[in-house]
Amino acid sequence: MKKQLEALRQAAGAAIAQATDSAALDGVRVQYLGRKGDLTGVLKQMGRLSAEERPVIGQLANEVRCAIEGLLAQRGAKLQEDETALRLKAETLDVTMPGRAKALGHKHPLSIVIDEVKEIMLGMGFSVAEGPEVEWDYYNFEALNIPKGHPARDTQDTFFITESMLLRSQTSPVQIRVMEQQKPPIRIIAPGRVYRSDAVDATHSPLFHQIEGLVIDKGITMADLKGTLNQLAARLFGEGTKTRFRPHHFPFTEPSCEVDFTCFRCGGKGCPMCKGEGWIELLGAGMVHPKVLRGCGINPEEYSGFAFGWGVERLAMFRFQIDDLRLLYENDMRFLSQF
Ligand code: PHE
Repeated sequence: MKKQLEALRQAAGAAIAQATDSAALDGVRVQYLGRKGDLTGVLKQMGRLSAEERPVIGQLANEVRCAIEGLLAQRGAKLQEDETALRLKAETLDVTMPGRAKALGHKHPLSIVIDEVKEIMLGMGFSVAEGPEVEWDYYNFEALNIPKGHPARDTQDTFFITESMLLRSQTSPVQIRVMEQQKPPIRIIAPGRVYRSDAVDATHSPLFHQIEGLVIDKGITMADLKGTLNQLAARLFGEGTKTRFRPHHFPFTEPSCEVDFTCFRCGGKGCPMCKGEGWIELLGAGMVHPKVLRGCGINPEEYSGFAFGWGVERLAMFRFQIDDLRLLYENDMRFLSQF
C-alpha cells in the first residue's frame, strides 16, 4: 500500500503539471481526491492492514492528500494568473488607434433637384402641398376635365386598384385637392411620385416624379406664368437661360403650352446634350381651365390662374448629364457617389 500511495502521489503530480486550464485541473482533482477517486480507492483497502500498519499508512495517506492538495492549489493559482493575463491582453483597448471612418451619405440626385426647385419656389412665396399617391379617378382625371373615354386617358394609362381608385398618373390631382380646401390666393408646388403603366427603358419608368405648380388669384395671366418660369430657369441654370413656350394641349388648362429652356450646356447653340436643338423640353403648363375652377367652387369670372408640371427625372438627367433613367433607381453606389 505504501507503494500504491507513492505511485498515486507521482501520477497526480504529473497530471497536475500537465493540466493546461482550470477545468482540466478540476478534472484531475476529482480523479485523485474525489469521493470515488483513486485515493479513496486505496484507503478502502485499509481494513486488510494490521493494527500496527494502519496508523503508519493512515498518516502517509494524509501526507499524500496534503501534498496533492498543495500542488493543486499552486497550479490552480498559476493557471488563474495565466488566464487573467490572457484575457486582459485580448481585451486591451488601444485608445491611440485611429477611429473607423463613417461613410457619410448624401442626397439622391432626384432629391437634390426637387429640393432646389422647392427652395427657389419657397423664395417666391409658394408653399408645399401634398396629395396621396393612391388617388381617386375623380381627382386624377374627372375633375381635371378628363372624363371616361377621353383620349388623354390613353397617354396616362396607369395602375387601377378598383374601377374608381388608381395610382396617380400625374401630380395635377393635388391642384384639385388644394382648390377644394383653400380659398384664393393660392400659390403652391406639389412634388411627388407618379405612376404610369410604361415599360422600363432608358427614358421611361412606371414610377417617376413630378413637381406641380399652381397659382390662383385675381388677374393672373399668362405673363405671370412666363415671369415665374423665367425666374425659375434663371435660378436653376443661370442668368441668360431663355424659355420658349410652344402651343400644346392639356384638358385642364386653356391655353396650354410646353415649355423649353435653352440648353444649359451649349447655351442654345446646339450640342449632343440637346441633340443639336439648343432647347430642352422640361414642362407642361397653361392657364387653369374655367371648367376646372368652377368644379372646385372657384368663380372663373373672378379668379384665374396658371399651373405647370415638371418631370423631375428629366430635369435631373439634363442637370447631371445622366443618359439612362434606370441609373436613378438601381442604387448602385458607383453611380450615386458621383453627386
Ligand atoms: N400633368 C401634366 C402631365 O403630366 C403636366 C401639366 C401640369 C400640364 C400642369 C399643365 C399644367 O403631362
